[in-house]
Amino acid sequence: MSVHSDIKKITTHVLQNMKFNGEKISMLTAYDYSLARILDQSGIDVILVGDSASNVMAGFETTLPITLDMMIYHASSVVRAVDRALVVVDMPFGTYQGNSKLALSSAIRIMKETGASAVKLEGGSEIVESVQRILSAGIPVMGHLGLTPQSIHKFGTYVVRAKEDEEAEKLISDACLLQETGAFAIVIEKVPAQLAQKVAEKLKIPIIGIGAGAFVDGQVLVLHDMLGITQEFSPRFLRRYHNLSEEILIAVKQYITDVKNQDFPNEKEQY
Ligand code: KIV
Repeated sequence: MSVHSDIKKITTHVLQNMKFNGEKISMLTAYDYSLARILDQSGIDVILVGDSASNVMAGFETTLPITLDMMIYHASSVVRAVDRALVVVDMPFGTYQGNSKLALSSAIRIMKETGASAVKLEGGSEIVESVQRILSAGIPVMGHLGLTPQSIHKFGTYVVRAKEDEEAEKLISDACLLQETGAFAIVIEKVPAQLAQKVAEKLKIPIIGIGAGAFVDGQVLVLHDMLGITQEFSPRFLRRYHNLSEEILIAVKQYITDVKNQDFPNEKEQY
């Protein structure tokens, strides 16, 4: 019997038990009520209100422009839809870096105004003071290491991170530091599978990978990418489970034809 199947509400403790029992954690993004409702009904363990909403929802090129108010709008819409999954909200760029008091007040706003269960922050030693202060208020923190899209202007590209020893060692020490500080889980993005495996084996808290191979404690993808709603983004790690953009296109074209030909509405579709 899996930990997952008879749990009514996923908490950070449930995720810890899943790691302990070797049961993989499933996580997807959502930014709105309707899709979050479907995800929750599917039995997903964790819903991430990712700052990828900046790209997917708002059409920005990076995750940097999305604001705290925008994240709170998305997160509160998601929380209203969810009964079972753990809802984690990304803290947007500029709301926690280099200022732990600001980090705490941003995290408190997210928790108070959305009803979510945890926040996610990108970075390691550079943001540990912010992580500490947020944790001191009883707010669970998920870390995010490897490719951290909020630092895109520092990296310059979205290529695989931590291929060289020095960066790989920093990633391992950052992961240990986040665990020691009290983070309940860490997302590791786009790093060699062997490195992610090493971190997952070394740490007691769950490691959730995206483009980090199979030997971690769980997987996360951006919902719109795996459903094929977004089309431009095609990294090697992405498995497309559907081609929804194609299906939406067909449906909408049919609707246009029906309207133009006066096939819609028919007699049964009117009062
Ligand atoms: O913002 C996001 O969607 C994320 C995932 C890619 C992990 O951080």
